[in-house]
Amino acid sequence: MVNINIAALENIGKVLNDPKRPMKERFRALFTLRNLGGEIAIKCISECFQDESVLLKHELAYCLGQMQDKNAIPILRSVLEDKTQDPIVRHEAGEALGAIGDPDLKMLLEKYQHDPAIEVAETCQIALQRLNWVANKASEDRNLSKSRYESIDPAPPSVEDNVEKLQQTMMDESKPLFDRYRAMFSLRNLGTTESINALGQGFKASSALFRHEVAFIFGQMQDERSVPYLKQTLEDVTEHEMVRHEAAEALGSIATDECTEVLKKYLNDPRPVVRESCEVALDMSEYENSPEFQYANTLLTVQS
Ligand SMILES: [Fe+2]
Ligand SMILES: [Fe+2]
Repeated sequence: MVNINIAALENIGKVLNDPKRPMKERFRALFTLRNLGGEIAIKCISECFQDESVLLKHELAYCLGQMQDKNAIPILRSVLEDKTQDPIVRHEAGEALGAIGDPDLKMLLEKYQHDPAIEVAETCQIALQRLNWVANKASEDRNLSKSRYESIDPAPPSVEDNVEKLQQTMMDESKPLFDRYRAMFSLRNLGTTESINALGQGFKASSALFRHEVAFIFGQMQDERSVPYLKQTLEDVTEHEMVRHEAAEALGSIATDECTEVLKKYLNDPRPVVRESCEVALDMSEYENSPEFQYANTLLTVQS
């Protein structure tokens, strides 16, 4: 961890918590806090759950989960329990609790696995199965817990590596989402044209949560071969906003001219979560196409 004084950390927190700042700056502040970690960073991030932006708040929860710090459990718990928060934000809080993976969270996740908001219910079902998996890791699974994308995934990859079989499992709506997610993460790890096309079929699944995860994974892979699927998803105005948001951010991380062009088209989308995603995604593409050292470099700007 970088050695940084409290005042500098709090200044980054102020950028994050300032609704007058452009969304892309607030995102950079958030990623800087996530990377620095520790109690003050968690406090600054927690305060921001008062904000109006669903996009920003769901990202706060995501980052808290990825930080893997048990000090974030109380705030994530209160967000999951707060029915006035948007289901997208509550979903991300549930997923983050699963990522932290504390066995004591079992009861809480059980309570919300039947939440009326389907995104929240499905997330808690997956998180519960992840807790179980962490507790009873089968020996062949032991090497699977770490993602090659350095993310804490909602489910580990499966042990299968046959694309056809993986696609079959992924699309089998009678199977638990956890098993279908495992197949999805294996397809991601294969990274071939066949596995990307198989993942693209995932956009036909009935669960919006599932479809948003496919888009998220394409963002991690940053592979041009997924662009047609992502473009179609963002352009479909009848698609769930959580899925379109994730498609926009994935396009931002792939960052070809074609991606930029489509993102610009939705900068004024009537749905705030979609238009803010396009704004942030265009900022990410700018970074992808520039020689800057680190995407989230608020620390440098705040200190100088
Ligand atoms: Fe999500
Ligand atoms: Fe997201």
